[in-house]
Order: sequence, then structure tokens, then C-alpha cells
Amino acid sequence: MQDDFSVEEKKKEFLELKNFIDSIDNHSGSLMQILHKAQEIFGYLPFQVQKFISEKTNIPISEIYGVATFYTQFTINPKGKHKIGVCLGTACYVRNSQAILEKIMDELKIKVGETTSDNLFTLDATRCLGCCGLAPVMMIDDEVYGKVDPSKVPEILNSYK
Ligand code: FES
Repeated sequence: MQDDFSVEEKKKEFLELKNFIDSIDNHSGSLMQILHKAQEIFGYLPFQVQKFISEKTNIPISEIYGVATFYTQFTINPKGKHKIGVCLGTACYVRNSQAILEKIMDELKIKVGETTSDNLFTLDATRCLGCCGLAPVMMIDDEVYGKVDPSKVPEILNSYK
């Protein structure tokens, strides 16, 4: 999807991040903490935010990018309002959770890891969600859907529109 992140419109957020960075003495030892704060403020870590952190901390942007993309708790892409996770753990996989995933991709016209252009949904494939008895399982935000029939996917998605 198009990333329409605007630095101009985010002055207040950048000021908040600057104040946070200024309150820290050891920048390079606190990069994780700074990235967490930045993600809390912006929702994700776009290039402009990584660049800002680099300028304020003197940490090379390549290092910031490396950390932001290595750890799964960080994301450099915007997330949709609703996060869909389809379980591809063994129990779900053998009960054809792949078909659920394909149905969702088809319905929303996105791939795994992508967000719809209206910012409503982000799709992810996950490991075991801890409720294998309900396989195949998908989640939308905190809601668990068990024994999902792919033909029910449009109805489930529609309830979030
Ligand atoms: S394998 Fe899907 S919930 Fe465990």
C-alpha cells in the first residue's frame, strides 16, 4: 500500500520523541527503548522516523534499520485497524488453514504482511496460537475464530467493515 506518512503533520509526535531521546543519557545502549517509544508514538517505524532517530542519537541509520527489521516486535510498515492472523501451526495446517489464508488474500487483495489500501486490515500468518483443538484457527485482533470454513471468511471480514 501507499505510505503517505507526512513529517509536516507529525510535528507534535516528533517533538514527543525528541523529548524522550533527550531524557536518555546512553543513546546507543538504549536503542531498543527508543524504537519502542517511537513505535508507540507513530504506530510503526517509517524511514523518516528512523532518520530522525539517527540524527538525534548519531547512531547510523543502517544500524537502526537493522534492529527495526530484525525484531518482530517492530514494524517498518503501517498496520491496519484490524490485525488478522491465520495460524499455520501444524494442527491448523493439516486442517487446511492455508485455504483460509488464500481466501482472505483473495477477498482483501493483499498478501501476507500487507495492509489493505483503506488501512482496515493487515494480514499475517502466525505460528500456533495455543488453541489447536479449534483448528483451523484465525484471529482478528483479540477475537479467536475456530474451526473456520474458508467459505465463511467473507462473512467474518464483513463484520469488521
Ligand atoms: S496449530 Fe493452530 S492453534 Fe495450534
